[in-house]
Amino acid sequence: MRILTGVQPSGQLHWGNYFGAMKPIIDRQGTGEVFVFVAQYHALTTVHDAAALRAATRDVALDFLACGLDPARACLFRQADVPEVHELAWMLSVVTPMGLLERCHSYKDKLARGLPASHGLFAYPVLMAADILAYQSDVVPVGRDQKQHVEVTRDIAAKFNQTFGAEVFKLPEPLISERVAVIPGLDGQKMSKSYGNTIGLFDEPKAVKAKIMRIATDSTPLEAPKDPDACRVFALYKLFASEAEQEEMRGNYLRGGYGYGHAKKALFEIYQRTLGPFRERREHLAAHPDEVEDILRAGAAKARAAARRTLEAARLAVGLD
Ligand code: ADP
Ligand code: TRP
Repeated sequence: MRILTGVQPSGQLHWGNYFGAMKPIIDRQGTGEVFVFVAQYHALTTVHDAAALRAATRDVALDFLACGLDPARACLFRQADVPEVHELAWMLSVVTPMGLLERCHSYKDKLARGLPASHGLFAYPVLMAADILAYQSDVVPVGRDQKQHVEVTRDIAAKFNQTFGAEVFKLPEPLISERVAVIPGLDGQKMSKSYGNTIGLFDEPKAVKAKIMRIATDSTPLEAPKDPDACRVFALYKLFASEAEQEEMRGNYLRGGYGYGHAKKALFEIYQRTLGPFRERREHLAAHPDEVEDILRAGAAKARAAARRTLEAARLAVGLD
């Protein structure tokens, strides 16, 4: 089984990205063939600054490796190292109904947020379909916001296969982990870089501590019992904690005599314990860019071989062989 996901290099990754998108795929290494790529061409729809794109591309690769993506068991590569995807995107584009793209929420949301309407922004789901179909992916773990794009991918693949009378593309399934579908931010809304309510995956511990300490809580006195399910600190603590740790913390809230300050301290400690080793690994990798480059090149060679096979089948189906 091939499991694939792409992550845009469009800013610093945060806890929401880690628990919602990165950890689910990293945890699946070993259960299938994992492909992860840096979606540079998708970021290019909104990032128009070469230095920023370059730096963010490097950061996404470092972040994944630091968080435990293992190049011996997974394939990590840059989208731009597999140009075959663009030829596929065009072939898919000619069978994609306009109406299908016009219905995409993500495009409408971006316009509503004030992004200028460009052809790239509009055609983005076709490129995403090419990314997924090029590697004959079976499963695509994504956040809830990307589910529609995977459904669009299925529609486009089916339309292509039907139009050209050949089973060129496998229909992928989206995979959404409900437990981590929406990670809350510091203000309780979805954690998102667009809302400025994030905690960066590799923020300095001092800055993380300050952010945790500023999380708003209600004014229940220290001695009184508290509702864990109404508390943002508990919601974040749960991401890191084992079942047993969660139950213990729940008991502390319900018993009373346990303040929000205690809970914040516990959140900071469990964050340090979990993400601290990732930070050390990231520092090592950042100091050894050649190692990272070798990993990305090896990943691209493997991905490209898979994409070439699909492209050849697609060319044959449409009469471009
Ligand atoms: P942002 O909302 O910060 O711009 P992106 O849209 O770039 O994040 O998301 C990248 C990946 O991380 C996607 O798969 C997305 O679904 C996931 N993700 C982002 N924020 C969250 C969150 N708060 N909870 C769960 N998953 C998230
Ligand atoms: N569109 C995805 C996002 O914004 C990134 C992405 C691009 C992707 N191509 C993909 C995700 C293919 C999964 C599969 O998060």
